[in-house]
Order: sequence, then C-alpha cells, then structure tokens
Amino acid sequence: MARHTLVIDQGTTSTRSIVFDGAVSPVATAQQEFPQIYPRPGWVEHDPEAIWDSVVATDREALAQAGLAARDIAALGIANQRETVVIWDRRTGRAIHNAIVWQDRRTAGACERLEQLGYGGLIAARTGLLIDPYFSATKIAWLLETVDGARAAAEAGHLAFGTIDSYLLWRLTEGAVHATDATNASRTLLFDIRRGAWDEELLALFGIPAALLPEVRDTAGMFGDTAAGLFGGPIGIRGIAGDQQAALVGQACFRPGMVKSTYGTGCFALLNTGRQAIASRHRLVTTIAYQLDGARTYALEGSIFVAGAAVQWLRDGLGLIASAAEAGALAAESDPGQPVYMVPAFVGLGAPHWDSAARALLTGLTRGTTRKELARAALECAAYQTRDLLDAMQADTGSGWAGAPTVVRVDGGMSASDWTMQFLADILAAPVDRPACLETTALGAAYLAGMAAGVYPDPETFAAAWTAERRFAPSMRAAERAEKYRGWQDAVARTLLRPG
Ligand code: G3P
Repeated sequence: MARHTLVIDQGTTSTRSIVFDGAVSPVATAQQEFPQIYPRPGWVEHDPEAIWDSVVATDREALAQAGLAARDIAALGIANQRETVVIWDRRTGRAIHNAIVWQDRRTAGACERLEQLGYGGLIAARTGLLIDPYFSATKIAWLLETVDGARAAAEAGHLAFGTIDSYLLWRLTEGAVHATDATNASRTLLFDIRRGAWDEELLALFGIPAALLPEVRDTAGMFGDTAAGLFGGPIGIRGIAGDQQAALVGQACFRPGMVKSTYGTGCFALLNTGRQAIASRHRLVTTIAYQLDGARTYALEGSIFVAGAAVQWLRDGLGLIASAAEAGALAAESDPGQPVYMVPAFVGLGAPHWDSAARALLTGLTRGTTRKELARAALECAAYQTRDLLDAMQADTGSGWAGAPTVVRVDGGMSASDWTMQFLADILAAPVDRPACLETTALGAAYLAGMAAGVYPDPETFAAAWTAERRFAPSMRAAERAEKYRGWQDAVARTLLRPG
C-alpha cells in the first residue's frame, strides 16, 4: 500500500517539492527558483507559467530522487505563498496577466480610499483582516479594471480567480477542479471567516463577480486527482493550506495558546485560538488556521514583511557580508556598548503598525560603528518585531486567558542561527523551541494530505511525536531586556514620524 506523500511548497521566491515517507520524514527534495518581476517600484509579479513549470519539474525530480512512481504516493499536499492573485481564462487555461504578488503595493491608493470611506470596521468584522494592499481583493479589482475585456469576461463566467493553491489545483486536474481551502480563502478580504462563506456585500464593494471565485473546501480532504499524464498516473490531492497555516500544523500547534513563528523573507507568527475567532484590538489579523470536517480553528496572526530580508540587504544591497550565515558570527563579536537599531521598513511596516509609507531606519550610529553592529541590528530586529507581535497577542487574548502563549516554536531559514534564537528568547522572556524537522511548512501539508488519505496518525499522535532539537531559554537580566526594548520602541517611533 502506498504510504508516501508528495508536497508542493510553492513559496514567494522558489518552489520546493518534497517526498515524505510513511513516518512523515522527508526523503527527497527538489527546489527551483523562478524570476521575480518588478515592473515598477513597489510592484511585484510572478509569471504563472514559470511557477507551473517549476512545480511540474520539481515534482518529477523529487519522485525520481525517491525512486517512487505515482502509484506509491498516497496523497499530494499543497502549501503556498498566500494572497497572491492569479486570474485565468477557463477556456484556454492562460492567465490574463502575471500573478500579482502579496508584497505588491500598487493598490495602496485604493486601500486608503476605502479606509477613508469608513469600511475598515465592516471588513474587519467579516474577514478578520485590515484594509491593506497585502490581501487579495484590491489586486483582483485592479486586474478587472486594467486588463482589456477582463470585466466583461469575468461577468460572463469565462474567467477564474485563484490564489496560487487554487491555480495549481486547476492546472494539476487539467481544469476539472476550481477550488481552494478555507485558510487561503481567509486571506482574500472577501471571505466571512465566521460563516465560512464568500461575502456578497464585500464582493459588491470591491466589484468582484461571484462567478470568478473558487469553491471553498476543508483543508484536508479529497480535492481531485492529478491528470494521469503529468506524473505517470493519478495522485489524489488531499491537503491544501496557506504556507503559514501549514507551518502551524507542521509545528503541531493544535491547542489554543500554542504559537509558531516562521523566519523567512518576512516573519509570520500565528497563535492558535481554537474555535474562537478573536477580534484583534491591537492590529493583528484574525485568520483561519485550518478547517477539518467543516469545523474551523482560528488563529491570531502577526505578519512582518522583513526579517531574513534585512540580512539579505546587508549581503546584496550593501555587500557587507558574503553569506547570510556570516551575520550571526559577526553579531557575536559586536560591541555590546553600542545600541544600534535597524527598523527594517523597506516596504513599509506590517503588523502591528500597518504603515505602507514608512521606510527603513538605522539609529545609534557613531564613528565606532562597524559591520558587526549592523549585522547584530539586522538579526535583532527580527526578535524585536516578534516581541511586538507577541505583546499584541497577549493584549488581545487578555493576560488571564488560558490560551496566552508560553513557548514559541520557531522555523524558517533564520531559525538556524543560534545567536538570533538566543536573543529572541532573551527579548521575549520566553523559551524558544526549534524543532528537529525544520521543513515545517511542507511537513504540515504532508501531514494534512496523509491524514486525509488515512496513512498518517491522528493529530494527538502526530503532536506527541513532535520533538525540539533545541530549546533556547531566556537568560538576559530583566533590566537589560527592558532597556533594549525601549531603544527599539524609540527607533520605531522615529520611523513612523513624517517630516513636516
Ligand atoms: O502571506 C505571505 C506568505 O504566505 C509568504 O510566505 O514563505 O512564501 O515568503 P513565503
């Protein structure tokens, strides 16, 4: 009997396909980067065909590496970059425009207008989100307004919208299935997260015809079979989740109060709040963590746009370091007497500030500042931003709430840096657990698909098998922590100031 699973982790800068064995351990990995398209400052696009090609190629390569055929795979799972918008023609399968990526800020003006018209309250109540170009709806509206003939074709039912999961599902099934899962739907600004349905009033507000939308399904369950010709036989697609929600599952954060924080290009912290969709009063977003058998579990999410990207900037923008891994060693040698801060608002600030006009700032520079202090500042700002998010989560859930986070489970590229994870524990004054398996996003999607196929265990058993490779315990004195964090808050306040 087939016991392996195949996962597509379709991220912002690369596509990875990973084969997991019957014990939910990765056994083969293939990865491909694809071009980032920047037509104008602040605009970010992907070619959907390039994404599709990378998916097919890496899937085939991972299967070949593992020495497996389609019939050996019990289920396929998809984890994807969220919010990114693709609109394609159902008749030809061709996208009508490049995908507009979650990072793209072209609809900032449209968002401001909606905010000024006072729609913030309605949108937050229905979707759990804020009005920001980050989410899908204004990007869909932009495409309908801008691409010739798109609105008429959409109204005639010829076009389909999808986040990347939905687009891949449609392509993998050769047009047989147009669906998405509840986690991805919850990032569009069009989905009522409490009713679990597309919201007519919001569709009207954004001018989006319902005929464009995919059907919304459980996160785990049968979505459809891959077309037989693709991988030498059909594979059942049985799990779909947005990548951050997949990581929450991969970290086995199934109980309210459990929190994971992923450090990639950006940083996304999710707190499981169980069956309760807690409305944030501190500018976090409320989102669907997963939907199983029709029952929705919710999360509070803090989304930070720049974490690892700050280190990339030191490497690629300034040429101060040769590799990202160098930053930790440099930071360890930095002068502790120099309070240098980096507020990495390179593309504005996400949670909890949501200021798309803010720009990055370095403070505390002296003639004695070297690349060591800059490396430290770039690593430290990921920890300070996480503290901002966790403080907001704590404030939203109330200090007495049983679900307040106590331990943070980390993953993503930057979590490999011991120096950074120790500093994170110190600034949070909370233990930080790094799991044995760092492929948490893919692991979560594998688990969802394999569970739906009946080859992986129930959530409790899966959670019991989760192990930390290392725990970082806080060791900084309280007074030092408070002083450092005050310095950070001061630097952020300066970033948010507008000249004049
Ligand atoms: O919300 C955006 C997020 O899903 C992107 O994740 O890992 O592709 O950068 P990643």
